[in-house]
Amino acid sequence: MTRVPIRYGARPCSLVVCRGCCCGDPRKNPGMDHAGQLARLREAAAASGGRLLVRTSDCLGPCAQANVLVVQPSTEGRRRGGRAAWIGWSADEDCLDEVLAWTAAGGPGVVPPPATLELQMIDPPKN
Ligand code: FES
Repeated sequence: MTRVPIRYGARPCSLVVCRGCCCGDPRKNPGMDHAGQLARLREAAAASGGRLLVRTSDCLGPCAQANVLVVQPSTEGRRRGGRAAWIGWSADEDCLDEVLAWTAAGGPGVVPPPATLELQMIDPPKN
């Protein structure tokens, strides 16, 4: 897979991983490796050479679709019209594979998402 070069001062793609009242809570969503999910994403960010950032957030709103994560475009992706992609039911390995492959290829605005990942995209909450 081709990697997108990073320009000095440009923001890379970033993942906002919800860890609020439901996402990441094994009492509310049992049978998921919540800690393993976050560890895997952080390891990918550490190995990305600055091409991916990962941070956690308090509840983002759509708890019924936990675990929720948001893929935010890089500066280049935003310049090309990319917008944040909200992903629901994101705890399985296949989903993480696709999220990481997409961000490694450039993410929103740079390359289209994998078709199966599109099926997991959800609307952000209305303010
Ligand atoms: S805890 Fe993740 S959307 Fe509410």
